[in-house]
Amino acid sequence: LLQPKVIIELIGNSLEMAGKQQNWVLMVTAQSPTNIAVIKYWGKRDETLILPINDSISVTLDPEHLCTTTTVAVSPSFDKDRMWLNGKEISLSGGRYQNCLREIRGRASSIEDEEKGIRIQKQDWEKLHLHIASYNNFPTAAGLASSAAGFACLVFALAKLMNVKEDQGKLSAIARQGSGSACRSLYGGFVKWVMGNDVNGSDSTAIQLASETHWDDLVIIIAVVSSRQKETSSTSGMRESVETSALLHHRSKEVVPKRILQMEEAIRTRDFPSFARLACVDSNQFHAVCLDTSPPIFYMNDTSHRIINYMEKWNRFEGTPQVAYTFDAGPNAVLIARNREVASLLLQRLLFFFPPLPDTDMDSYVLGDKTILKDAG
Ligand code: DP6
Repeated sequence: LLQPKVIIELIGNSLEMAGKQQNWVLMVTAQSPTNIAVIKYWGKRDETLILPINDSISVTLDPEHLCTTTTVAVSPSFDKDRMWLNGKEISLSGGRYQNCLREIRGRASSIEDEEKGIRIQKQDWEKLHLHIASYNNFPTAAGLASSAAGFACLVFALAKLMNVKEDQGKLSAIARQGSGSACRSLYGGFVKWVMGNDVNGSDSTAIQLASETHWDDLVIIIAVVSSRQKETSSTSGMRESVETSALLHHRSKEVVPKRILQMEEAIRTRDFPSFARLACVDSNQFHAVCLDTSPPIFYMNDTSHRIINYMEKWNRFEGTPQVAYTFDAGPNAVLIARNREVASLLLQRLLFFFPPLPDTDMDSYVLGDKTILKDAG
């Protein structure tokens, strides 16, 4: 549960000549984790500025497992802005990239480092071109919030490279213009994206509700049900929901505002039963909205439904929730265990009931001091 960080800062080639010669390169590499919403964002009131119709709350993951690593480089020898995603060149002409680049360039400051002999004036940034290379250590666009980590990392790395002197909140509002959920990845721990009221979106930013150390017994397990790219992107799915789902409008006005307050309280007091109940019902309502959309959108599959069923039964059997589940715009399950002990049990049970390969040789699992056989059902 960590916020973005710079992992390498490099000034290459003839750095002492930087600013004077044409063969210098200035580079920053940053890493940014993804985040998983426990109260979902679904629906925009402004498509260009990416302004949502309700607040949302997320948990930022540990970057070791699900993160984007982005290197941004600037050099007078680059003749245009270019970007590579997972090694493949992609177009930067889309409005979302352009909006982020414009916002960051507009806030760039001069860099002067006598020791290294570097001098870039504020106005130079408008003329200098960028090369950007970004890698996800998890499947792209499979409903694992890859765009969240991607745009958060891009904006964070560019801001470092161009010496932008804005706080994380302002950077979150810029990342938001790349992908809504990205604004929440600028902070670690528990994060709220405040929808804001302003027409220009200046108050639609992320704020940290609690740091990564506040509730660190929680363990998040992501069960990758399918790593295929989803058929309906979040962007077009939520647009269709805004246009056709009456349930979405009821949700954003009547349900989410109360749920946000309850979730904030559950996080503040580390009340796992309330946290789990709210996260599960919110995920289920989001998918109900998808079904209420015309034509309906199906993000979950049979395996996702079986996982929900299983978690519900487990929680009911224990009398108090042990595991929360939430699903984004895809079939993959994000499972939040209340502590390490539950997480290890959860992992065993997942491997047993949802074996990664059909002919797995696992025919039993350990539950407390008992060994449960697969044939026992
Ligand atoms: C289901 O942030 O990917 O994950 O703003 O159009 O880029 P755009 O959408 P995106 O949508 C995320 C939707 C969600 C819920 C959430 O993360 O809150």
